[in-house]
Amino acid sequence: MDVTRNPNEHMAFGRGGPHMCLGNSLARLEVRIMFEDLLGRISKMERVGEIDHLRSNFVNGIKRFPVKVTLR
Ligand code: HEM
Repeated sequence: MDVTRNPNEHMAFGRGGPHMCLGNSLARLEVRIMFEDLLGRISKMERVGEIDHLRSNFVNGIKRFPVKVTLR
């Protein structure tokens, strides 16, 4: 995934068709709360190793993304 892609449309929950994720509002709320809480606790987060991608024909995802977290 390239977060700098252009256009950068939101794709995580489907593209708005008949099977658009029914839980998208709950999932967005959970992720927002998680980041709000996390950002209050840490001062720095940096990647410290290689990213491992999931090997799958169906799902594109990250399996391992090692980071070093510095607490406030
Ligand atoms: C970060 C969390 C989540 C992600 C990334 C996600 C992603 C997705 C995706 C990609 C689809 C298929 C969309 C499509 O085919 O157009 C989907 C469908 C669905 N999701 Fe989620 N989802 C998440 C959380 C949730 C939660 C929390 C719930 C329920 C509480 C939920 C319930 C559903 C249901 C019921 C469908 C099927 C909708 C249908 O086929 O009509 N999801 N989700």
